[in-house]
Amino acid sequence: MDGRRFYNISSYILPSDYIEVKRTEFAHELYKRHWRGNFSSPVEELLESSKGGRVLDCGCGSGKWPYEMAIKYPNSTFIGLDMVPIFSKIDNENKPSNLGFLEFNICNGLPFQNATFDFLFQRSMIISLNKSQWKIILNEFARTIKPGGWLELMEIQINEIDLTKTAKLFQQSLNRYLKINNHYQFHDFPFYQLIRSTNRFNSIKLIQKKVAVGSWGGEFGLKVADVLVGVYEGMKPTLKHIMNVTDLEYDELLHKLSKELKSPFNDSMYITTLRVIAMRNR
Ligand SMILES: C[S@@+](CC[C@H](N)C(=O)[O-])C[C@H]1O[C@@H](n2cnc3c(N)ncnc32)[C@H](O)[C@@H]1O
Repeated sequence: MDGRRFYNISSYILPSDYIEVKRTEFAHELYKRHWRGNFSSPVEELLESSKGGRVLDCGCGSGKWPYEMAIKYPNSTFIGLDMVPIFSKIDNENKPSNLGFLEFNICNGLPFQNATFDFLFQRSMIISLNKSQWKIILNEFARTIKPGGWLELMEIQINEIDLTKTAKLFQQSLNRYLKINNHYQFHDFPFYQLIRSTNRFNSIKLIQKKVAVGSWGGEFGLKVADVLVGVYEGMKPTLKHIMNVTDLEYDELLHKLSKELKSPFNDSMYITTLRVIAMRNR
């Protein structure tokens, strides 16, 4: 649709194609730089130990995160799971022996036994799951993480009030889509409440980092702007209907957004990246 390939647009509005793989790999590099590392949970010692740990990346996309982790921690075992096998490039070409990939839809629960993982990581899944699916999957996380093991969720928080005029237009339409489909929105994701509602996690900690988007954030801010424009670009087949604009008008708005974010007059737009870590009860 609109020149992009989708897996099932009625349940996941971003494309699953080469352009999206490149966009998420680029975003992965920015996250790593901004957070100075791939995770915040206190699991490094275990992953480095001779015994190693078992790790799941849920909704792993291109597989860049588990790939880098598997190389860095050769004594640990990593699984990347996604409903679309866009991890296949790594899978076919240069997969380390301690990394495996699995094509699976997590709306059907997780295909693992109780207490399998020492560490479960999941990033950027707000648009993927509706409210009842979040409830199910968090209970599945609680079931499959070992007592004393760690859960780490990483998401972005976007408040319309912090956006430029055109960014607000796109975000408002995305929020409308999320609302219609009974998803949490980018400004109100209830991390604490959801994790606590399982009654099986403690030591819940939320860490936030603000990111300046566009010219005022320097070279890094300009790269973040490109990633964000890429998100709205990929959502064109859905958002153009919600915005009630033609193809041409949508493309012009994307162009306007890019120019606006990169203009020296953009001196305030930011988004927040969040990591929530929690320990499975012993
Ligand atoms: C925004 S991407 C994030 C990818 C990766 N976590 C990252 O941060 O680069 C969301 C991923 O979740 C996957 N996904 C969405 N719904 C899913 C589901 N129900 N089961 C498994 N994977 C799903 C998509 O195919 C996509 O690769």
